[in-house]
Amino acid sequence: MQLMLLGLPGAGKGTQAERITSDYGVPHISTGDMFRKAIAAGTDLGNEVKAYLDSGRLVPDELTIRVVRDRLEQPDAQEGFLLDGFPRTLPQAEALDETLAAMGRRLDCVLYIHVPQEVLLARLTGRRICKSCGATYHVVFQPPAVAGVCDKCHGELYQRSDDTEEAVATRLEQYAQTAPLVDYYRDRGLLRQVDGQRSIDDVYADIRGILSDIRA
Ligand code: AP5
Ligand code: ZN
Repeated sequence: MQLMLLGLPGAGKGTQAERITSDYGVPHISTGDMFRKAIAAGTDLGNEVKAYLDSGRLVPDELTIRVVRDRLEQPDAQEGFLLDGFPRTLPQAEALDETLAAMGRRLDCVLYIHVPQEVLLARLTGRRICKSCGATYHVVFQPPAVAGVCDKCHGELYQRSDDTEEAVATRLEQYAQTAPLVDYYRDRGLLRQVDGQRSIDDVYADIRGILSDIRA
């Protein structure tokens, strides 16, 4: 399956991606995660993108498109993938179409997780992530059994540098560039909307329903 998750920052894309990749075996391709890993490793890419991520601005299209093209060529992405956080602008969406067409592939479905903007600040400022395995938690909505410690691997939990009120405000502004993608994929008959304002389990149950339709 060749899937994409679309939605505002904090809509629950990464949270649902953890479940989809573990149940369906498709690699999770998150541009945000790739950039954060590059920053942590101190690579040239990391140095180039750090200021964008810290402030909540979008990384330039050309660079982002190059990173995703390289990733889609990796062996593990040949049978399917789950894109998360890419594309985020119309030029990125067009570049993705071109890349997939050149590979003789196409998207099966765009899962659009819809949430009202008011709930996002609380979701993002309360988010915690495992330093070791990347699992996502929330201090109120999805707390670990022991505060600050990952349930899965006992790793230490940290807060993302762009989950401050200031950076979240910038990220929400930047979403104006992503919003047109909803129509872009709806016009192509690929968009499936999910109500993301319910519990994590309920959202995932809807996604499973959609994915079983696609596979049928
Ligand atoms: P990225 O990492 O993609 O961040 P984002 O889109 O802002 O998305 P998030 O990861 O913040 O949110 P999410 O929807 O995954 O929410 P989550 O599941 O964690 O991008 C970061 C930065 O990288 C960008 O700002 C930009 O600089 C750069 N970048 C990345 N891609 C780019 C691109 N293509 N072009 C240019 N620049 C790019 O959930 C959030 C919290 O809510 C968690 O704590 C979770 O536990 C909780 N939660 C989840 N679901 C629910 C629920 N149903 N009920 C209650 N709580 C919930
Ligand atoms: Zn962990």
